[in-house]
Amino acid sequence: MTRRLLVVIDGPAGAGKSTASRRLARALGGTYLDTGAMYRAITLAALRRGIDLADGRARAAVAEQAEVELIPTDGEGCRVLLDGEDVSAEVRTREVTGNIHWLAGDARVREVLVELQRAFARAADRPVVAEGRDLASVVFPDADVKVYLDASVEERARRRAKELGAASPALEVLQDEIATRDRRDSTRDVAPLVRVPDAVHVDCSALGPDEVVARLLEVVRAAR
Ligand code: C5P
Repeated sequence: MTRRLLVVIDGPAGAGKSTASRRLARALGGTYLDTGAMYRAITLAALRRGIDLADGRARAAVAEQAEVELIPTDGEGCRVLLDGEDVSAEVRTREVTGNIHWLAGDARVREVLVELQRAFARAADRPVVAEGRDLASVVFPDADVKVYLDASVEERARRRAKELGAASPALEVLQDEIATRDRRDSTRDVAPLVRVPDAVHVDCSALGPDEVVARLLEVVRAAR
């Protein structure tokens, strides 16, 4: 069986990975795998069940019992289902975002979700563009193309404020939240965010979305 092209994009929160990955997937006629949505969905499951998030056994039980599924949509992106319910919007709340670290730092939770991610890629009949934190280092170390997409904290906060519009907290609050998430993601014991030596580093602080996709397409072409 011929292996499908697999492109992985890792990087810190808010660097523009989602937009870039979705658009790259479309440009390649491929499908998009949002691994962050899976960590979000499992966090939502834990919050809904009202477990003590500090209890490792309870976290593992949620990961083993909750059913998380990603459904690629026709346009860009994918929907995330939790026990069959579409929770694509609900997983984006600040409550979920603020509690992900409990689940994302749990080895058993990661084991379950990594298996789902690999199964998604195996089942795909088109190129796959996957985004996350540990894809090049842990989930898909043999990916065809590995990208580390980065931007300054200031720029990431500015972009997030624009997305949130009138509902946005002050820029400093956003910067703090992003810096906290970066620290948690890159210092946790299990599968921390790292830049692997064979990843192409793309700093998009000064690039618009079109320029980022153009740069990523160059990287993919160079690797083929
Ligand atoms: O990409 P997104 O911001 O939606 O990811 C949410 C959180 O999920 C990240 O801050 C990180 O803690 C976790 N995550 C992870 N490993 C991945 C993808 C996301 O730990 N592969």
